[in-house]
Amino acid sequence: KKHLQGFQETTFALIKPDGLKNMGRIIDMILANGFLIKELRMCKLSLEDAQNFYKAHAGKPFYEALTQFMANGLCVAMDLVAENAVKRWRTLLGPTNSEEARDRDPSSIRALFGTNNTHNACHGSDSLENAKKESAFFFRDRNFGSCARLENCTLC
Ligand code: PPS
Repeated sequence: KKHLQGFQETTFALIKPDGLKNMGRIIDMILANGFLIKELRMCKLSLEDAQNFYKAHAGKPFYEALTQFMANGLCVAMDLVAENAVKRWRTLLGPTNSEEARDRDPSSIRALFGTNNTHNACHGSDSLENAKKESAFFFRDRNFGSCARLENCTLC
């Protein structure tokens, strides 16, 4: 029961469309690093979903390409539980830009499975507050049962 001792925190993780082909290896790394997976869901974002999820970046030069990319394939959303989960998941991810990650942290997820700044395999919440919001976005605010909000969903 070692993994249940201490203060457990939940963070939100998202395997992006370019990371999907390495989902098995990414989940191996998540488990090997002591996280529990409390929620896991494969889903396809509509462009509107992607724009909402990344609304903090609206207006930035990469926003259009980022939201198109995110809406153009399947994602896997997860709630990860561990002590210090927010920080530990960001550490396991490595730097945002996969090219930089390969220099600075070659064993990180983005170094191993990402390509550049936009195609960087996975997302991780940057604070506990954002983890709660982002988890709610995927696991509470939408109705996956009927898939009513998943435009062009390829799963049902
Ligand atoms: S920023 O610009 O400091 O707010 O960057 P960051 O907090 O690291 O998050 C940026 C997210 O936008 C995605 N993205 C890019 N960032 C920087 N430059 C370019 N060109 C770019 N293209 C896309 C980046 O992948 C981050 O997404 P998440 O999902 O948070 O990893």
